[in-house]
Amino acid sequence: MNIIKLDAINSTNDYLKTLLQRQFVENFTIVSAENQTNGRGQMGSEWSVEQGKSLTFSVLVKDLLLEISHIFHLNVAVAVSVVEALSFLQIKDLAIKWPNDIMAEGKKIGGILIENSIKSDGEIFSIVGIGLNVNQKNFENLQKASSISILKNQEFDKQEILATILQNLGRNISLVMNKNTEPIWEKYHSVLYKKNVPMPFENTHGQKFMGIIQNVNQEGKLLIKLEDESVKKFNIKQIKMLY
Ligand code: BTN
Repeated sequence: MNIIKLDAINSTNDYLKTLLQRQFVENFTIVSAENQTNGRGQMGSEWSVEQGKSLTFSVLVKDLLLEISHIFHLNVAVAVSVVEALSFLQIKDLAIKWPNDIMAEGKKIGGILIENSIKSDGEIFSIVGIGLNVNQKNFENLQKASSISILKNQEFDKQEILATILQNLGRNISLVMNKNTEPIWEKYHSVLYKKNVPMPFENTHGQKFMGIIQNVNQEGKLLIKLEDESVKKFNIKQIKMLY
């Protein structure tokens, strides 16, 4: 495992992307940074960190032998690896909010940004970016976001958490490569946030509606039971969760 440790960088995902354009990069190369000045989140959002307090890293994953239509298995492997690592810290109500926000006590404590590119020979390169609020104290909206340290009222060793996540990631990615994804899907579904509870959503036309999360399918679409009892599938661009 090749780890590149940086003090500060715009984004660890972007650093890895640039490195890939310039040279051969070994599978499972990891880039971590103490500070990220232009961290990116899902759907074009920003990801801000507190210098030295957050876990901010990206991992290159290739040779997965997956069709791009099955790439969501990787999201599942990553989200489950993070939750498995945190479950040792006795954090209450750990959950994965679809597709892969890491939640605890109803607040977001971590996020995952996976960026895939396909080469002409069909090989997929995935840059798996993980941001975890470990010892962070300042948040714009404490109702929505928090850190492990705030929730547990103590500081944590970021390197220890990183090592456990990487260990889990190695194991869970092997499951994906061996097409044995059942165990990670089972875990993913067992910790899916607000499953089986009526919750408010908004569609792309700005219409609000109530629905009940049933599951996430193998393509990564969210299955929601609507008020007329029909079950509809949504991808991340088609729906906003209002909770
Ligand atoms: C999200 O929940 O919106 C995803 C956040 C992902 C943040 C991580 S931090 C490391 C990596 N580098 C980035 O620029 N983003 C990801």
